[in-house]
Amino acid sequence: MEDRSQWGTRLGFLLAAMGSAIGLGNIWRFPATAYANGGGAFFIPYLFALITAGIPMLIMEYTIGHKYRSSAPRSFKRISKGMEWLGWWQVAISFIISTYYPVIVAWAVMYAYFSIGQTWGNDPEGFFAVDFLQVSEAGVFGSMVPTVLYPLLAIWIIVFIILFRGVKKGIELANKIFIPLLILSFLLIVIRAVTLPGALAGLDAFFAPDWSTIRDGSVWVAAYGQIFFSLSIAFAIMITFSSYLPKKSDITNNAFITGFANSSFELLAGIGVFAALGFMSSQIGEPISDVVRSGVGLAFMVFPAIISEMPASGFFGVLFFGSLVLAGLSSMVSISETYIAGIQEKFNFSRRTSVIIGTGAAAILSLFFANQGGLNLLDTVDYFINNYGVALVGLFEVLAIGWFARELKALQSHANGVSDIMIGTWWRFSIAVITPAVLGYMMLQNLRTDMM
Ligand code: PFF
Ligand code: NA
Repeated sequence: MEDRSQWGTRLGFLLAAMGSAIGLGNIWRFPATAYANGGGAFFIPYLFALITAGIPMLIMEYTIGHKYRSSAPRSFKRISKGMEWLGWWQVAISFIISTYYPVIVAWAVMYAYFSIGQTWGNDPEGFFAVDFLQVSEAGVFGSMVPTVLYPLLAIWIIVFIILFRGVKKGIELANKIFIPLLILSFLLIVIRAVTLPGALAGLDAFFAPDWSTIRDGSVWVAAYGQIFFSLSIAFAIMITFSSYLPKKSDITNNAFITGFANSSFELLAGIGVFAALGFMSSQIGEPISDVVRSGVGLAFMVFPAIISEMPASGFFGVLFFGSLVLAGLSSMVSISETYIAGIQEKFNFSRRTSVIIGTGAAAILSLFFANQGGLNLLDTVDYFINNYGVALVGLFEVLAIGWFARELKALQSHANGVSDIMIGTWWRFSIAVITPAVLGYMMLQNLRTDMM
């Protein structure tokens, strides 16, 4: 029997799973997605997706990791010899993400620093797009690479140390620090944001339901897409993390806790972001619909403008970008752990050797994204990963478990054998029918829009 690493406490596992789930997707993806897909009315497809796909898939991945005590490739191999590739595909996706994710975290580190003196001046958009990203033309920093290089290097060193120290003394300990700190600093921002003038109009815009959207298929696709990405499902992460659970550990209850904690943070982020957008819109006299953005544009163009308008702006700027850094770092650790564990098991390396090889390779590749033009590369890779990589691999995963390997009943009884909450028809129907149907529909829709 191999001597497998284990979490020290149940809370340690939960915090690590939450650390993976709670990331940039909660802060910069959810608010704009909800707003664009019916506002308050979006909560219906969103909660439906959480109950029929998010939590069932979390339960499934937790059970697979716990039952087979392996990272994704070896877990799938133990289910059926022909399925190992499914695990490697997920690991490969996580590896690719881990080559550009830290670059965004590095930007956030720099922006935390810029916040102190509002280096972006009166034109945060121009500053980001020109001065920050295409510096050689503007000549502000001379060349981009050296500037982003230092925070990027620092992030890799931190990730390396955390992973090198192992599951309990590294990943668990880091999340025990990161997650409370993240929740605290984010709460401070939200409290500040909702008490700013104009905040209520922002919340109104966010929660105002547009019920007509409920009948729109693309709104349901957006809800499922948000849930999959947000819960880090089909990235090999949750399987790897649950493989470190002690034998007698609850599974279903832990999945519910992870799912609801992630969604609570998403709701909190929606409130904070839209309160801040309401404030901004009242300051500059433009309608909220004109200032809403998601992703990089929200964090690095709109938020600097908001921060500049705020009282005590330096302080809140550091808190906001600091939150992005904490949320990003804990997700970063989780994606990297998938290939560390994967190569460790495949080649019988020690954990430390795998950490050196894995993070070393990813760190070198991340330099390509840190270079000029990195943002375009990042956008393209991100788009393909999210729309084809994960949706497709998730589809294969549920089809394999639900139909081909006929593993559904076995997983169900394994989960029920250790858990407080029993699963039955609802769970099997979600995995075997609802989730494959939704993912299949999503794939077809993406293909259709890309062909046109
Ligand atoms: N679940 C994270 C979020 O919502 O931001 C994003 C994420 C992290 C997705 C790591 C995938 C991943 F491998
Ligand atoms: Na999330």
